[in-house]
Amino acid sequence: MLYTVYTLFPDLVRPWTQEAILGRAAEAGHLKFNVRNLRDHAQNKWNRVDESPFGGGAGMVIRVDVAARAVAEAKAMAPAPDEIILLSPAGEPFSQTIAEELSEKQHLCMLCGRYEGFDARLEPLVTREISIGDYVLMGGEIAALTVIEATARLIPGVLGDQESHEQDSFSTGLLDYPEYTKPNLFEGQGIPEVLKSGHHGKVAQWRRERALERTFYRRPDLLEKVTLSQTDLDFLARLKTKAET
Ligand code: ADE
Repeated sequence: MLYTVYTLFPDLVRPWTQEAILGRAAEAGHLKFNVRNLRDHAQNKWNRVDESPFGGGAGMVIRVDVAARAVAEAKAMAPAPDEIILLSPAGEPFSQTIAEELSEKQHLCMLCGRYEGFDARLEPLVTREISIGDYVLMGGEIAALTVIEATARLIPGVLGDQESHEQDSFSTGLLDYPEYTKPNLFEGQGIPEVLKSGHHGKVAQWRRERALERTFYRRPDLLEKVTLSQTDLDFLARLKTKAET
């Protein structure tokens, strides 16, 4: 996967892509990062990328001509971008489903806003507008890195066997079951016996029940969307009865 990121602060984005799993996956050739400075497309005397908004109001808006030149540059790259993504709090809410869809692509191009965002006339030039949540960041960089983090780990070869993603929260549609490791005893808290039993079937059942339980108490909205077995439904019915008494 090739990721092209346009930002006014490439030095904020680049280091993140050079460390840990992303850095390793880039060195191994599974990922390629192309972090570009939007200001290189300013093409005016003062290298200006932003102007005050028509109609008045606080803040500055990124010029559409500057952003459009960045998009044109990205479109001329090989492979051409499958998606031109604008990061913005007004975008569609990012999710594991969108991450899965995007992880199948060859080239994602992302535009990070600053200030009050981009001139609205950029919209026809982008294929998608994504928000990472209902809050306003100071720029799209963390949002672009969020999209990178969530998609890269789904690309074959990026995670080692040790870092499998198949059982993740959300890839099963449920929150993750709790995990335990050494020490055996911490401040009076031990390890659930079943996890030390070596009985794979019982461990799997215990984990499924804990995942259902966590989801039931913390994110009941997720239970509406997930496919559940009759055993799951019976377990949830028992939880519900318990919660109501
Ligand atoms: N830029 C500023 N806030 C944002 C958000 N919540 N998601 C994506 N991009 C943003």
